[in-house]
Amino acid sequence: MTEKNEGSGAFAGRKLNRRDFLKMGGAGLAGAALLGTAGCGGGGSGSGKIIFTMGPDADGSIAKLINKFNKQKISELEAIHREMPASSNGYYDKLRTEFQAGTSDISVVGVDVIWPKQFAPQNWIMDLSDRFPESEQKKFIPVTISVAEYEGGIYAVPWLSCPDAGLLYYRKDLLDESGISDPPETWDDLKEMAVQVSEEAGVQNGFVFQGSNYEGGVCNALEYIWTHGGDVLDDNDNVVIDSPEAAAGLETYASMLTSGASPEAVANWTETESSANFYNGDSVFIRYWPSLYGGFGDTATTKIKPEQIGITKIPVDKPGDPTYSCLGGWEMSIYANTEIEDDAWKFIEFMTSEQSQKERVIIGGYDPSRKALYDDPEVAEATPVVKLAKDVLLKNVKSRPVTEYYGDMSLEMAEQFNSALKGDISPEEAVKTLQKSLGQIMEEAQ
Ligand code: GLC
Repeated sequence: MTEKNEGSGAFAGRKLNRRDFLKMGGAGLAGAALLGTAGCGGGGSGSGKIIFTMGPDADGSIAKLINKFNKQKISELEAIHREMPASSNGYYDKLRTEFQAGTSDISVVGVDVIWPKQFAPQNWIMDLSDRFPESEQKKFIPVTISVAEYEGGIYAVPWLSCPDAGLLYYRKDLLDESGISDPPETWDDLKEMAVQVSEEAGVQNGFVFQGSNYEGGVCNALEYIWTHGGDVLDDNDNVVIDSPEAAAGLETYASMLTSGASPEAVANWTETESSANFYNGDSVFIRYWPSLYGGFGDTATTKIKPEQIGITKIPVDKPGDPTYSCLGGWEMSIYANTEIEDDAWKFIEFMTSEQSQKERVIIGGYDPSRKALYDDPEVAEATPVVKLAKDVLLKNVKSRPVTEYYGDMSLEMAEQFNSALKGDISPEEAVKTLQKSLGQIMEEAQ
């Protein structure tokens, strides 16, 4: 099974969060981290290579573009992809260890959209304002720019899949066989259809998603909270998660398991397991990112063909309610201590160019970050997700509550959301606990 998504995988035991690090005193830990990273990595700043870190290159499209960059000698230095863990959490932990040690040989960092606002205040990545002026920024989808801004600077260039956004994929062929012509609009519709169609078609699971105790679990649960009218922070960054709306969202989240619409195993699933299940024909519905689409029709990945698939928006609580998709995606930053800043920039310019993005969109079905590609007929033909993104998603995409302290907040949310999903705690308990712990994080931040 080819894993299609770059930011997926199991929660990779994060040992220390930022506050723990500060409490322990950075220096001692940095020493430990230094020992831990000795011998890792390929190259070194003295090796004269542009070392680019990113998760696995599932469809080979990163390698293809890097070969082109090297062949065309766009820089005198050769670029290489250093593969990082597929899980956003595991990748974050690796970067943090290297950056805290201050000895990293990385020059270009593929960053999850939630990282620039966390990395910039630590001085781990560079302000790119001089190289990436507003006139250029305007060519990108606005939300992909705002996540990279920090105190008047811009710290990343949006790449792919950016914007990522939650979508509901379904087996159109199986819904048709059950006489269902329209996909679900509400979460209740989804539950009913998932139970009915999986039974009638003899498919193992109704609806699968990413419910594990990790970053993807936060994205999934937030979509339920938002579509029930709840939120984590208000406009003034006050924690407001202890609300009947947020609790109702988590109640619906947990009801996916108790109603039998979803298997209990999803509480431990990430992108890897959920996509494998759907690609294998073992589920009727899946909540996933746009990149899933690129795999359909690829016989090495799945027996399911694109014509068997329908894609729709994330369901809502009541008919007519607004939908929300969690914003995800990957951008490119320059490591603050690199000695090859100019070459790193040439690499970023090449990888995020219209032409390079187009090639990768066509291979992998990712959402492009450049506006122009949403009107490109070849892109539209290669993946219907881009059209859906333009018509629907870009209007309903919502960012996680990203602040400098998001890393800590995310750990707390991941745990509480997962416990509520498993039924270990009630939705009310989860939002009360979070109101306290997130409030503390925000207070300490003042
Ligand atoms: C996807 C998204 C990323 C998110 C991750 C969670 O890779 O692009 O933003 O953090 O999934 O698993």
